[in-house]
Amino acid sequence: MSDEKARIGLVGLAVMGANLALNIAEKGFGIAVYNRTAARVDTFMQQAGPLAEAITPCTRPEDLVAAIQPPRAIILMVKAGAPVDETIAALLPHLSPGDMLIDAGNADFNDTRRRAAALREKGFAYLGMGVSGGEDGARHGPSIMVGGPAGNYEMIRDVVEAIAARYRGDPCAAHLGPDGAGHFVKTVHNGIEYADMQLIAEAYGLLRANQTAARLSEVFANWNAGPLNSYLIEITAKVLSVTDPQSGQPMLDVIVDAAGQKGTGRWTVIEALKLGQSPSTIEAAVAARSWSADRGARDTGQGLFGAPPAGAGPLEADLESALLAARIIAYGQGFALLSAASEQFDWSLDLARVAEIWRAGCIIRSGLLDDIATAFRGTIPHDELAFAPAFAEWLQRTVPALRRVVAHAVQEGQPVPAMSAALSWFDTMRRARGTANLIQAQRDFFGAHGFARLDAPGTAHHGDWPA
Ligand SMILES: NC(=O)c1ccc[n+]([C@@H]2O[C@H](COP(=O)([O-])OP(=O)(O)OC[C@H]3O[C@@H](n4cnc5c(N)ncnc54)[C@H](OP(=O)(O)O)[C@@H]3O)[C@@H](O)[C@H]2O)c1
Repeated sequence: MSDEKARIGLVGLAVMGANLALNIAEKGFGIAVYNRTAARVDTFMQQAGPLAEAITPCTRPEDLVAAIQPPRAIILMVKAGAPVDETIAALLPHLSPGDMLIDAGNADFNDTRRRAAALREKGFAYLGMGVSGGEDGARHGPSIMVGGPAGNYEMIRDVVEAIAARYRGDPCAAHLGPDGAGHFVKTVHNGIEYADMQLIAEAYGLLRANQTAARLSEVFANWNAGPLNSYLIEITAKVLSVTDPQSGQPMLDVIVDAAGQKGTGRWTVIEALKLGQSPSTIEAAVAARSWSADRGARDTGQGLFGAPPAGAGPLEADLESALLAARIIAYGQGFALLSAASEQFDWSLDLARVAEIWRAGCIIRSGLLDDIATAFRGTIPHDELAFAPAFAEWLQRTVPALRRVVAHAVQEGQPVPAMSAALSWFDTMRRARGTANLIQAQRDFFGAHGFARLDAPGTAHHGDWPA
């Protein structure tokens, strides 16, 4: 335990908070820690081993505040939602003007904006800091997305950059904009994560009927050595290689097929819709998780209609290209959403920097992100990743395989909601003239909503529709 005042404080010693605190202590910064339930503080100090030297354990919020050098910086790593407000309320009476609170949990960015405004009025700074990488990332180097006053970030930048993951020496941490910008970017990161995981699960579903889990593990390991190289493909290969010690079956075969979700995927879709955007691969992934959770209905559905028999799977090479095409489109949809939010909230988000800080530490880290960063360093028409020259070329090469895989899956009765959403997006965006002229005519027919004409200015033209 340290006698000196700590450089930084942290509240919330569950998995993420404990690991982040150990990471901070290991990087040589004195840290004071507090948790609502005092027993967790004791357990944490035992877990800290030699790092306990740099840690000041506290069992009351006032002790935590007193243990930190002013102006104070206190990281909150508690359960998202009301617990954050309760923690702020517990700390507030003990803070001094100029102190800052940093919410490092998975907050809804609307809450972050609200909290930042309320605390600003009281003379305190509030930073929303998205942290990705799970337990291991928090301990050894997460990707860190910060929103809030730039000057306050500068005061903790050395700590944040020291604990962040590094990609070829570059810290995967950045101040991205004011108030909720960091939490918004983290939310979209998680939305992309949902899409990527769903796409991988669809590929697994198409191959699993005809192949052993062990063989599939090799397929994913091979893919990981190519353009699909990424953390999620890597862990999929590992997951597929594990045997359940109890049953002797592949571990995957004994796991219930109902996916959980904590809300960030749903938030991505909700915020996208509010911004007039539709990241359809992410929407499909959120929907697929919800459908997966409805196991009773799926049992009834299978009884009624029967599950189609397993046919021949698609070609592995096609599937690799299809996954790449769909992944590019999913990432592109996420970045398009970031671009729309940046404009709406006046954040001036540096999309290239966002891609750069996702290259290591976070769950969606992949080789592709380096290429995405390079593309955004150049000019991309409409901020649409698919239109960047390098990505347009990749899509020209890989979309035919995506089309064959989706067609095969549809023919075989295999659900591929995220892959088909990606393909439909592509097929829509490469047509200058679609079919919404009919929608406009229908709207004008029943509601006199008016429409624009190709051959005349204005948007309030009407058709001479029959009664
Ligand atoms: N787990 C991950 O992989 C991961 C990854 C990225 C981000 N996150 C985010 O990081 C944050 C922490 O996650 P976690 O999994 O470590 O923990 P968690 O299970 O989300 O939250 C547990 C922590 O919150 C505290 N807490 C709960 N209700 C409270 C209240 N009303 N007042 C004060 N403290 C309260 C708990 O204190 P007590 O011990 O007193 O109950 C405990 O310290 C969350 O926002 C989570 O979404 C998690």
